[in-house]
Amino acid sequence: MQINSARVRHYFDKVSTSLMGPYMMDGFGFPESAGKYRLKKEQQIADALTSSLKSYDLALDLGSGVGYWSQWLAQRFRRVESVEASQSLYLQLTQRCQPHLNIHTYYGDAINHQPGKAVNMAFLGGLLMYLGDDDCLTLLNRLHKNLSPEGVVLCRESTVRHQTQQKQGEYPVIYRTIGHYEELFARAGFEISQIQLNTAYELMQIGCETIKYWKSCTSPKRQMLPLIGGLVYWGLRLSSGWLPGMIRKSQRDFPVLQNHFFLLRLKPTARIRP
Ligand SMILES: C[S@@+](CC[C@H](N)C(=O)[O-])C[C@H]1O[C@@H](n2cnc3c(N)ncnc32)[C@H](O)[C@@H]1O
Repeated sequence: MQINSARVRHYFDKVSTSLMGPYMMDGFGFPESAGKYRLKKEQQIADALTSSLKSYDLALDLGSGVGYWSQWLAQRFRRVESVEASQSLYLQLTQRCQPHLNIHTYYGDAINHQPGKAVNMAFLGGLLMYLGDDDCLTLLNRLHKNLSPEGVVLCRESTVRHQTQQKQGEYPVIYRTIGHYEELFARAGFEISQIQLNTAYELMQIGCETIKYWKSCTSPKRQMLPLIGGLVYWGLRLSSGWLPGMIRKSQRDFPVLQNHFFLLRLKPTARIRP
């Protein structure tokens, strides 16, 4: 499975540099607080998944976007190396991270990034979905070589339930199944320590897919997106305790897109470095 990386770069060069732009949450009329809410909830999940880390020397943020996750990493690690391939997002990244002396930013392809020392944690927040299988393996193999024996890779990727789907065109992306990711991780020599549904993404995705439907059956003049987006968002916040669980129980393929955190470690045999 291949992807047109020039088109991916072109897409992210045009994306808005707001918190919601790289999160694909623009154009639904959601208030700014929707992006903040998702980020906060996702970081709580990531905090819990990585709470047993022992060393905090070096973290990588690959495909860092404008750097919200780099800032999160910078509170925990002595050094953070953030790599971003889109010029416009990279510019925002450097501005956002300027006050953090421990964040080092790199403009370019994450696949080619060579860290100076052993990596304790690599965060891939929606990067593998923009890489073909071969490039995923190249990147994962490189991480495998550079990870400290107790280090972890934390991926957060959009997923589908039944069959991997590839979208071409202006927004090229690969939505893989969990099984497809498991196979790639195993081929690169990783064991999956945990897979966790990204419930913050799920809640927002219910909103995105609902509003997409509303847009498809309403003329642009009548869409009233700021109003509808606000109502849907606050409705979801109020029902977050029960609605997603109820939809899950109904076994419907809704929302169509899911998102999972994958926590990877070196297979035990690879932890003994020569
Ligand atoms: C969905 S956004 C996520 C941004 C950020 N990780 C976050 O969670 O907010 C994916 C990011 O990966 C970047 N990207 C895609 N392919 C890349 C590559 N080969 N090397 C570096 N960055 C890449 C995009 O430009 C974009 O900023």
